[in-house]
Amino acid sequence: MATALITGGTSGIGAAFARALAARGDDLVLVARNGDRLAEMATELKERYAVSVETIVADLGVRSDVVGIAERLASIEQPIDLLVSNAGFGVPKKLTEADTTPHEHAIDVMIRAVLMLGAAAGRAMRQRGTGTIVNVSSTAGFVAMGSYSAIKAWVTAYTEGLANELHGSGVKVTALCPGWVRTEFHERSGIEIGSIPGLLWLDADRLAADCLQDAEAGKVISIPSKRYKVLITICEHLPHRAMRAVSRKLMSSRH
Ligand SMILES: NC(=O)c1ccc[n+]([C@@H]2O[C@H](COP(=O)([O-])OP(=O)(O)OC[C@H]3O[C@@H](n4cnc5c(N)ncnc54)[C@H](OP(=O)(O)O)[C@@H]3O)[C@@H](O)[C@H]2O)c1
Repeated sequence: MATALITGGTSGIGAAFARALAARGDDLVLVARNGDRLAEMATELKERYAVSVETIVADLGVRSDVVGIAERLASIEQPIDLLVSNAGFGVPKKLTEADTTPHEHAIDVMIRAVLMLGAAAGRAMRQRGTGTIVNVSSTAGFVAMGSYSAIKAWVTAYTEGLANELHGSGVKVTALCPGWVRTEFHERSGIEIGSIPGLLWLDADRLAADCLQDAEAGKVISIPSKRYKVLITICEHLPHRAMRAVSRKLMSSRH
């Protein structure tokens, strides 16, 4: 029986992973800040799927909390077979604002924690010769839209580096790069979504199921849906200057 650890497993994409994994019989370790929501999610999953669910209340912006999760990932007695590093949020702040704290916090949660957890999981899994790491990145990493894009570009490049480092070890590593997904993300981050065309929205359950298939198949980059695969291929083949101009237009439509 496998066990998966999911950060941000109480909402949106993380919750979709939790349900998909519980439905196939995996035990879970869920991490988030809100203890009540963790308890609710654990009850739902245990009742619906008869799996075991451990919860860890932790703030990934706090280094000592991340160390605690890294220790759980390193456990020999209760090994983790799949890590989904998913917790995150939007950062709709200008790069030139006097207060850079929101950017620094985003870097702590979406870079430092992803790095520390990937290192702990990678070491433990390599030793066992098996395991899977999924880092939730974003299509935003292919464009130039503020610190969120820069952070997600790091997550994707980091994941490719980790996949190379663990190549041949039996450990699979995947970066999931979704486009727009209907979750609490936009409301929590204060991002206007009125102008996003319906066609660009993805379903979290479908996305999690497809990503698990991609990870199993050893795909290092998982881009959900044909339409986003086409969009990203276009983005990658545009001259970089054109990509920056498109990003500028998208950013200015938000202000
Ligand atoms: N939704 C989209 O359109 C979209 C597109 C591309 C990529 N993504 C990425 O997908 C991931 C999940 O986002 P989502 O859309 O599912 O958002 P969501 O519905 O807002 O869920 C975010 C989850 O992360 C947890 N979380 C947030 N900050 C945390 C922290 N400091 N420490 C621990 N847990 C924390 C939240 O729980 P607590 O609040 O209880 O901590 C919650 O479980 C993120 O990395 C995001 O960048 C989202």
